[in-house]
Amino acid sequence: MTGVIKTEIFRCSLRDIPEGEARGFESMEGNNIFSYFIVRRGKSVFAYENSCPHTGSPLDWTPNQFFDKKRNNLMCATHGALFEVETGLCIDGPCMGDYLKPLQSSIVKDEVIITL
Ligand code: FES
Repeated sequence: MTGVIKTEIFRCSLRDIPEGEARGFESMEGNNIFSYFIVRRGKSVFAYENSCPHTGSPLDWTPNQFFDKKRNNLMCATHGALFEVETGLCIDGPCMGDYLKPLQSSIVKDEVIITL
């Protein structure tokens, strides 16, 4: 039997991420700290590395602020690239056509679990 071993890197209550909001978190992997964020849309969550495909800058302009003004798309604070929440696809800006790096996310008994 073969399978992929998943590493859990973060867990929180679904209530910690209000509807339509995003929350950043960090994970220690070896000697390195990586920055990620989780977005909630209804009963679904999406998680990505907090690194813009354009230059690698963090997306949030202040902690946990990942959305554009209309709150429809994720927005990079550095040069304004816009990304679809559900796919991480850049739909406007200097990295159009590129994707945010996704993480695996699941909700089990109202707990959000993020794995690599
Ligand atoms: S660093 Fe994100 S758009 Fe340039």
